[in-house]
Parts: sequence; structure tokens; C-alpha cells
Amino acid sequence: MGLHLDFELPASSSPRRRKPTTTPNEFKAGYSWMPKSHPPTVLFKTYTPKTLVPFDGNDGGRILLAINGIVFDVTAGRNFYGPNGMYGNFAGRDASRGMAKQSFDLEMLTPIDQPLDKLEDLKPDEIDNMKGWIDHFSNKYIICGKLVGNDQA
Ligand code: HEM
Repeated sequence: MGLHLDFELPASSSPRRRKPTTTPNEFKAGYSWMPKSHPPTVLFKTYTPKTLVPFDGNDGGRILLAINGIVFDVTAGRNFYGPNGMYGNFAGRDASRGMAKQSFDLEMLTPIDQPLDKLEDLKPDEIDNMKGWIDHFSNKYIICGKLVGNDQA
């Protein structure tokens, strides 16, 4: 038995039968399925408050911030976090408390030579607010590491 087709597909019209002679890597006559180059990769790393702080964007380079131990690469949000950005205070820092309390007061930031902020005094609604920001950041930015205490790296 087996499957019987009443018609034959012309060899040239079926994408599955058309054999490209070179590896397509850009849009020419049809869709491509190979990117021209590998997309940029980000290495998941362990940061401490001290090793995170150089990523504050002041040198025009990458901008990282942490919320609840999760380090996000927010370079794409340079308008927010760059030197003149409204939220530049969070750049290169543990932003957990400020995000939880919806405040960019400088006292929200733990000095970089201190132990990690344990956030134990936060109220449930503040924790929820912080989690909301983690959701927002997870959907928008790349997670590129974790934040641990200065003596835990
Ligand atoms: C005067 C008060 C404020 C105004 C007018 C304001 C305005 C804005 C605007 C227009 C956006 C951009 C939304 C978008 O395009 O996605 C934004 C995002 C944001 N706001 Fe505010 N905001 C204010 C207060 C705050 C405070 C107190 C915080 C403290 C946590 C905060 C944290 C953020 C963050 C983290 C973002 C997300 C940026 C991102 O997606 O990377 N904002 N705000």
C-alpha cells in the first residue's frame, strides 16, 4: 500500500527539495535560517558589590545592576541607567531596596564595602514590588550573573 500522491511536485518548487549550493546567511531570494554571525553571548558570572561597581556606565561600557542577588545587564537601558539617566543611582549597584521601596534615595544603596543587604525588614508589599521589578527586568534584559557578598566570591 503506502501513501499515493496523484501529482508530482516539480523538484525546483519544493523548498525541501531545493538544495542550496552555499550556506545562506542573509535575505536574498528567500528566507534565511542561518544568522550572518553568532549573536553576542554573555557569560554568567559571580559578582560582588565591589566587582559590580565598575559597571556603572560612567566609562561608556556595560551597565549592570542587581536585584535580590540577580545581576541584570541593563546596557540597553542606557537612557535610564547611564550617567545622566533618571535611575543612574542603581547602575553598578544592588538596587533591591530602592526597587522594593520605589525610591532612588542614596540611603537605599548599601555601601559597597558592607555585607549584602539582607532585606529582612522589608514589608510584604515591598517584597512584592521588588518581585514585580524582577519580572519587568527579566522580560526586558539579560540575566548575566549573581551577586554575592564581597567575601563570598
Ligand atoms: C517622578 C516620578 C517618576 C516618574 C515620572 C517616572 C517615569 C518613568 C518612565 C516614563 C519610565 C519609562 C517606562 C518605559 O518606557 O518603559 C519609567 C521606568 C522606570 N522607573 Fe520610573 N518614574 C518615577 C519614579 C520612579 C521611582 C521612584 C523609581 C524607583 C524605583 C522608578 C523606577 C523605574 C524603573 C526601574 C523603570 C524601568 C526602567 C527600565 O525598564 O529599565 N521610577 N519611569
